[in-house]
Amino acid sequence: MRTIYLDNAATSYPKPDGVSSRMKEYMDTVGATINRSVYGAAQDAGLTTLLLREAVGRFFHFPEPPTHVILTPGATAGLNMVIKGLLKPGDHCIVSSMEHNAVMRPLLQLNGVEFDRIPGNREGLINPADVETLIRPNTRLVIMAHGSNVCGAVQDAPAVGEICRKHGIPFVLDVAQTAGHIDIDFENWGLSALVAPGHKGLLGPSGIGVLLLRDSFAKLLDPLIAGGTGSASDSEYLPDYLPDRFESGTPNLPGIYGLAASMEFLMAEGLEKLHAHEMQLCKRFMDGLKGIPGVNICGPQGLENRVGVISLDFIGQDNAEVAYQLETEFGILTRCGLHCAPSAHKTLDTFPRGTVRFSLGFASTEADVDGALEAIRSVCAQ
Ligand code: ALA
Repeated sequence: MRTIYLDNAATSYPKPDGVSSRMKEYMDTVGATINRSVYGAAQDAGLTTLLLREAVGRFFHFPEPPTHVILTPGATAGLNMVIKGLLKPGDHCIVSSMEHNAVMRPLLQLNGVEFDRIPGNREGLINPADVETLIRPNTRLVIMAHGSNVCGAVQDAPAVGEICRKHGIPFVLDVAQTAGHIDIDFENWGLSALVAPGHKGLLGPSGIGVLLLRDSFAKLLDPLIAGGTGSASDSEYLPDYLPDRFESGTPNLPGIYGLAASMEFLMAEGLEKLHAHEMQLCKRFMDGLKGIPGVNICGPQGLENRVGVISLDFIGQDNAEVAYQLETEFGILTRCGLHCAPSAHKTLDTFPRGTVRFSLGFASTEADVDGALEAIRSVCAQ
């Protein structure tokens, strides 16, 4: 039985050519860390790291220098760094009702910090104008998922950015589901920070992510982790400058080499082409679903305001059992359940039963979509 991987919202697979070989090359022939030593291999690692920061900055239209591209262990770490590094008792924060637990759990750990959720509609979309009605004198942060990991709904981030700019409130965008799928313009969208994992749409390995910090916003953040940076070693205090202030400890060098390779792939292919491919497959998938009774699409019903994450509710069936059947009888790999986002499922009215999520990637094909549709037809007919 052929396997059809449709779980790219969890992690992209396969990776582009060059990602694993670059990581192996680092492990076998470089081996050195950065910012500590000055021999040739260490300089190779340092240069690769700098070039990665530059590439990431260009990719997101980032106006700050590459020093402000912070390498993190992943998006969850980046979101914790922002939320816990910024908010203090008495502060208020605005999130959307579509957040992942990577935002909600750190937020709920903070005693004395209040928050409001921008309501999403049944398609998982917020109305940016609602942000303005939630702003309070002590609102210190608006933080929001750009794309929903549950249903692919993409929020109007530029409109939210405009409101935040008008009120002088920092705006942080979690682009875990849109980076590498949609062109994200840090500068024009008025972002204060952007958080992305390396292993989803950026097509790199897991264990590495990026946090892009506007300089004025970075100055508001307390670092969560302190330790050796290889710099200012005469002092027992963290340096004030970036990236060192937010990058204590030896970084994930194999991850840096792998992500450098995947960023090269993304930039060589071009986002426009990758996006067009994904949306063409998404259309094929959604058109095919229309003719199948017994299944509901949760989230955006059309191709507007979405990425290729398609969540289905199998009417009258147990969605977890359907996912199991899809795998064991048809080789279709999906993710079922609540996707670490209970509030999003409440918004979509799929809580607590959850959905079966099919998520497309750059390597997905028409044959994959047709295979999934055939399997769904068969499951619905039973
Ligand atoms: N957040 C990832 C997902 O939605 C892991 O599957």
